Amino acid sequence: MKTAWLLLAVALTVPAAEPGPRRSGRDTMSPALQALQADDSQHPAQLALALGRELWSAGARSCANCHGEPATLRGAATRYPAFDAGLIDLPGRIQRCRVRHQQQPAWAPESEPLLALAALVARQSRGLPLAPPHGPELDTAASQGRTLYMTRIGALNLSCAQCHDERAGQRLGGSLIPQAQVDDYPVYRLEWQALGSLQRRLRGCLSGVRARIWDWDSDELMALQAYLARRSAGMPVQPPGVRP
Ligand code: HEC
Ligand code: HEC
Repeated sequence: MKTAWLLLAVALTVPAAEPGPRRSGRDTMSPALQALQADDSQHPAQLALALGRELWSAGARSCANCHGEPATLRGAATRYPAFDAGLIDLPGRIQRCRVRHQQQPAWAPESEPLLALAALVARQSRGLPLAPPHGPELDTAASQGRTLYMTRIGALNLSCAQCHDERAGQRLGGSLIPQAQVDDYPVYRLEWQALGSLQRRLRGCLSGVRARIWDWDSDELMALQAYLARRSAGMPVQPPGVRP
């Protein structure tokens, strides 16, 4: 990945700053990108949202048949990851409905229909605070996620915390290091030219530090998501986000 990440690994002898108040990644990106995210008619995820609405009511046993309007799921996206015979995130819940209730084969991870529906469902929760649920399995996962977050990994030997807690707001090559708040997922990332899930974003950071890239829906990615959701708990969400 980018050489800037390597240079940071070298520069880490400089003492770290104390983490400041919580700020969403959308509030630290450029004004042009903030405007893009705030304007539904310009939003780069609008095609995906249109696809999501189409899929919502397609077929005999559609999402609409059981759930009615997408707006009935307002609030749902703020309550993930959840535990239901295993840890699931929002795309995972939609896969469950696809397999369990529609009796259709699961979509591939990060496939267009899955992300489109995730964006449509997540959008219904705009403005609501993140409120991840608790419970024995989720508590264990969140504490494992916190350990992963604090542990140095990869060829660059960096922890998530070294960038996102200690160096948030600093520049890494061309990019600003955000606080890694998870309030806007899924996001349309300009670098991807596509919508992507939080798991994709996390895999990008793993690749950045040249660590092993955990599988989709792996225990590690679910644990990190459980921790990150608690770390961002209470922050109002504005999905789908836009990111550089
Ligand atoms: C070398 C510094 C660095 C490390 C280490 C790192 N990241 Fe990141 N992360 C970034 C940068 C920079 C971005 C912004 C996107 C970009 O330009 O790549 C980012 C973006 C993110 C975002 C998206 C935030 C938003 O506002 O959308 C999340 C979440 C995140 N990282 C989580 C993690 C986790 C979890 C780890 C540990 C597994 C990690 N990162 C490790 C630098 C880092
Ligand atoms: C046959 C009825 C049925 C269909 C069709 C269906 N669902 Fe569901 N859905 C449910 C039930 C029942 C639940 C509660 C969890 C469970 O029992 O699986 C649920 C839960 C959910 C949740 C979680 C709500 C929350 O509060 O956390 C989401 C999101 C969701 N469905 C989305 C969808 C989408 C998107 C589709 C279409 C791809 C869909 N569902 C199709 C019955 C259905």
